Amino acid sequence: MAKLINTSSNPKSAIKKVAVIGAGTMGAGIAGQVANAGVEVWLLDLPSQNDSVNALAERGFKRLQNLNSPGLMSNEAGQLIHCGNTEDDFEQLADCDWIAEAVVERLDVKQGLYRRIEAIAGADTIVTSNTSTIPISLLTQDMPQAFCERFAITHFFNPVRFMRLLELVRGEHTRDDIITTLEQFCETNLGKGVVVCEDTPGFLGNRVGVFAIQCALHTACKLGLSPTEADALFGRPMGIPKTGVFGLYDLIGIDLMADVAKSLENILPADDEFHQYAQPVALMTQMIANGQTGNKGGQGFYKNTDDGRQVIDLTTGEYQTSERLQLPLAQQAEANGLGALLDDNSVYGQFAWQVLSSTLNYAASLIPETGPNVLPIDDAMKLGYNWIHGPFELLDQLGAQRVVTRMQEEGRAVAPILTLAASAQGFYQVIDGQLHSLTESGDYVAITRPAGVARFSELKQTLTPAFSNEKASWYEYDNAAIVEFHSKANALDADSMAVIEDALAQAQSRKLRGVVLHNDAQHFSCGVNLTAFRGFIETEDYQGMDDFLNHFQQTMHAVNTCPLPVIAAPSGMSIGGGFETVLAADHVICHANSVMGLVESSVGLVPGGGGCKEYLYRWFEVLDDIKAAAWKAFMIVGFGWSAKSPIEATEQAMLYPEDQFMMNRDRLLAQALSQLDKVQKAKPRKPLPMAGEETYREMMDWLFEAEDQERITPHDVVVGTELARIFTGGKVKANTMMSEQDLFDAERESFLRLARSSATQARIVSMLDEGSPVRN
Ligand code: NAI
Repeated sequence: MAKLINTSSNPKSAIKKVAVIGAGTMGAGIAGQVANAGVEVWLLDLPSQNDSVNALAERGFKRLQNLNSPGLMSNEAGQLIHCGNTEDDFEQLADCDWIAEAVVERLDVKQGLYRRIEAIAGADTIVTSNTSTIPISLLTQDMPQAFCERFAITHFFNPVRFMRLLELVRGEHTRDDIITTLEQFCETNLGKGVVVCEDTPGFLGNRVGVFAIQCALHTACKLGLSPTEADALFGRPMGIPKTGVFGLYDLIGIDLMADVAKSLENILPADDEFHQYAQPVALMTQMIANGQTGNKGGQGFYKNTDDGRQVIDLTTGEYQTSERLQLPLAQQAEANGLGALLDDNSVYGQFAWQVLSSTLNYAASLIPETGPNVLPIDDAMKLGYNWIHGPFELLDQLGAQRVVTRMQEEGRAVAPILTLAASAQGFYQVIDGQLHSLTESGDYVAITRPAGVARFSELKQTLTPAFSNEKASWYEYDNAAIVEFHSKANALDADSMAVIEDALAQAQSRKLRGVVLHNDAQHFSCGVNLTAFRGFIETEDYQGMDDFLNHFQQTMHAVNTCPLPVIAAPSGMSIGGGFETVLAADHVICHANSVMGLVESSVGLVPGGGGCKEYLYRWFEVLDDIKAAAWKAFMIVGFGWSAKSPIEATEQAMLYPEDQFMMNRDRLLAQALSQLDKVQKAKPRKPLPMAGEETYREMMDWLFEAEDQERITPHDVVVGTELARIFTGGKVKANTMMSEQDLFDAERESFLRLARSSATQARIVSMLDEGSPVRN
């Protein structure tokens, strides 16, 4: 099979060979991402006395193949990594363009390495450190000027492949061209959101992020909130990942977080506000001593037991059942904005106010120490901590004036730039059609991104939607229609379809170049809205369900047959109905970390928006053998398998070799717009010859055998039977022709049969009650 195009590879890049020293968590991750970008990389660690002298580097390499969170996108990428050690392979550094040091956080070890590197590296070799806490002036003290000029900090976040932020820190002597080369390579080839920042303690992301977490922890304890209550507030309602604060502690490791807070405490000046939150709370010290270190220790603030999830009582240290909490205030804030949190006088409202006001004011107090402009801090928090909005965007939502007034009433010191924003027009403003951000001097400067980078969340602030409803909108831009989903988890329903239909129709009548399906939410779409399906089931409105599926299929058909090209430009997850939408487009330009798949079987359903039909067509195109194609589709959809990279997706006929992927998700939109004039419309779907009854029976035998061997459940057999029927035509003669509409009908019939089954209904309800993404 031909290879998918990586549109990011930049043959002109000055960086063609890289060495990473230190093959621990970060070093292995950096080497993996360099290899993902198609660049040769040496991964060196200390020599080992054991069986293999390269054992440490090899162990780092092995971790990249972790199936749950693979650091490598393909086997080919793995072949670009050479494992070695710092005794036998140090001469490999001589012709490297970039040497990235990621060894333990010890100044003496790092300095010792730099002296060895200086002796062997070329005159133009760039050297960087991944240090989190050591200033450049200390790292390079006593090093020659020529070395200092080529030295910078490249501070990656863990896991390197998936975290978008790269803080690029220049030293006093770092040359401009070194920063430019690193910025370009890391931004384009490695796909990072590069934030160039000053060499200030903790840089930007950790300085604000660790403050926020510690402040939320201390405030929750002070106000007597349980971890569940605190996480329900300091989470989704604030646009922060749902792990909240206590969940994040468990994820990172309670001991590691205590160390991070300690090291930040050590490097911050004595008058920094962080010191009041730097200490671990008393219970935490006890928990660390007991080995209750979070997920890695099997228990932390939360633990999963055979009887379900439990949560610790912060006063007694005992675990109790963790009920799923539905805080009306949190729901209100999620639906209507943060203002709801500030209007509330309960303990929940107090918690939200104290954490938000302290954290946002702290971020503001860093201006101008970290630079004159607020934008880099917002970028760092969005890219490094996955906040949907940065601190200054949150302040704009709350109203800077409102925050300042309340803080002043409470007698608290307000950061100068926050006072400035309150008397001006906030932190962000659209001026002459372009988004601007506030600086220390009170001026607004235009936000400029590298050529080819366009974040839709920024761009749309300068546009007016042509048509919009609660779930989606479309905009006219660059003589094209851009469709954006914006529901929770970007779950699709009739409203989303209405926007696609309108965009397709209007793009033709307005004579636009085509349609781009894109958004820059975390996930392109997690599928059809299961809550809506639950509603159909609870009211036994199966006709309503069929009408919706028909609407979905016909919208996908319209995407397919619209005379204008339609490009899908997804990132994050495109699963279930979200992936059916991608499959319907003529061309795909997706992010390198995209996850794609028809996962409906996991809730006891089958794809019902044309996904089965389209996937069978695609396998038939690849294999030219309908029986083999039916088996492929049956197994992959049956197991609800999803591809963890576009390369995997192409190998499994989910993408075409002509489709493209990019390392940087911020480049998808511009690339899609630039490709509209070059894309060929997909060919209309001709009738397909069905594999027929014999293959159907073979599939049924396979299902029964797998059930006998307890590899699948009885309900999996029921779902598998429907898939076998769709992909073979069921009890029809081999080579019976089926039209696109016949296949649509088969999908809907199977879907409806399954939706009536109590086992499927139970799976849907439990998935929704667990708070999993709404998807089909
Ligand atoms: P780690 O402890 O996982 O790995 C460090 C590796 O360096 C080990 O494999 C060790 O054998 C190797 N090493 C030690 N001395 C060496 C030497 N002289 N020559 C070659 N290799 C040597 O550490 P981790 O977490 O990967 O951190 C590395 C650097 O990245 C540190 O500076 C840390 O502050 C920074 N960092 C860590 C982050 C994290 O989340 N772990 C995030 C961002 C930065």
